[in-house]
Amino acid sequence: MEKNNLKAVVFDLDGVLTDSAKYHYQAWKMLADKLGIPFDEEYNEKLKGVSRMESLELILQNGNAQDKYTQEEKVAMATEKNEFYKQLLHQITPEDVLPGIHDFLEQLKAAGIKTAVASVSHNAPFILERLELDKYFDYICDAAQVPRAKPFPDIFLSAAQNLGVEPANCIGVEDAQAGIQAINAAGMMSVGVGIKSQMQEAKLILPSTAKLELGMLKEYFQLA
Ligand code: BG6
Ligand code: MG
Repeated sequence: MEKNNLKAVVFDLDGVLTDSAKYHYQAWKMLADKLGIPFDEEYNEKLKGVSRMESLELILQNGNAQDKYTQEEKVAMATEKNEFYKQLLHQITPEDVLPGIHDFLEQLKAAGIKTAVASVSHNAPFILERLELDKYFDYICDAAQVPRAKPFPDIFLSAAQNLGVEPANCIGVEDAQAGIQAINAAGMMSVGVGIKSQMQEAKLILPSTAKLELGMLKEYFQLA
């Protein structure tokens, strides 16, 4: 294996390719309000990158209500949230691709660097379609096929395997702590986009997706 040679970039979706994280928040907020459980944007940070059912558990814990409902009731709650979330997703257009993403994807393509999407969201294919981004990626992970959500490395490992690339030759891009932990655990170089306090363990933190630039990342990767 050639070390320090960048061969692939694996992207999270929610909060990296588009700001769908705000719709997740709105949908969970609707449910939490209905249940009378406190829920705000700060607590919502804990949910980023976390699977749907685990997110529900975290919300219920915040209201000391985790033992109040049967598994069947919990599945119904998560389904209700998802139905509302899916309605919100219809607002997404190609204009909602975050700044710098198109340019960065073009740079990667021109340089022959492979790309994948590693999102634990079951709605990822629909969102990528709405954004008209699906054509850019060499591989899109299927959340249903990945046993453990982030912070476990499974989804990033699956992306590398399906791209035919060693994790050590990959960069992973994330906006949340659970995702950065998953990238690190997979043995990839982690790049966080967003606020530093939310991604302490990232190898490199950029203030926004607009700062994703291949030349700079390649240099950083070779030094890492
Ligand atoms: C992640 C989001 O990408 O997907 C989480 O950051 C979300 O907030 C998870 O819970 C699962 O998404 P979905 O669309 O399958 O409920
Ligand atoms: Mg995210």
